[in-house]
Amino acid sequence: MAKLTGKKKIFCAVFISGRGTNLKSLHKYSQKKTSLINLKLVISNKSNVAGVKFARKNKIKTKVINYKNKQKAEKKILEILNENQIKLICLAGFMKILSKNFLKKFKNKIINIHPSLLPKYKGLNTHERVIQNREKFSGCTVHFVSEKLDSGKIIIQERIKILKKDNPKSLAKKILRIENKIYPRALQKIIPNF
Ligand code: GRF
Repeated sequence: MAKLTGKKKIFCAVFISGRGTNLKSLHKYSQKKTSLINLKLVISNKSNVAGVKFARKNKIKTKVINYKNKQKAEKKILEILNENQIKLICLAGFMKILSKNFLKKFKNKIINIHPSLLPKYKGLNTHERVIQNREKFSGCTVHFVSEKLDSGKIIIQERIKILKKDNPKSLAKKILRIENKIYPRALQKIIPNF
């Protein structure tokens, strides 16, 4: 496969359902000269969330998708992705699970960020479980999306020490800051091999 020369940025879509701090960090990255992406599209299954407001304010094309019928929703999303020539999808707090059929259409081109040291603590409420189990470390992971939840190949991971005084809320805050830092790094790492 041809390597990216550094001149041509790939069209990227970010899928969200809420707050959008990772979207913000990817947007900031996309505006750097050295960035390898053109953040062309935001897809959200929720209309009034902070991430959508941020995207609109920053003039990123934004589509809110009605997810009442998952099959129809995914069909619509695929149409929009094709229209916009999207080559990479970054899930950033997107609370819907993509179907096998959808994943096939973007094989190895969908990545996700998860607030734990995968393969540990897949799924929701990671920080609560980590604290409950008195883990010494936690962190976050950017990984390729595969059929099994939070189980695809790991791209990048960063670890932090858990302090005695930490609780799920303080841990979430610290890890979110690291998430925002490593997501762009993951892109820098994988896109040259596209
Ligand atoms: C992050 O903690 C991410 O790891 C998880 O969902 C959260 C999204 O946060 N998948 P934000 O909307 O990017 O602020």
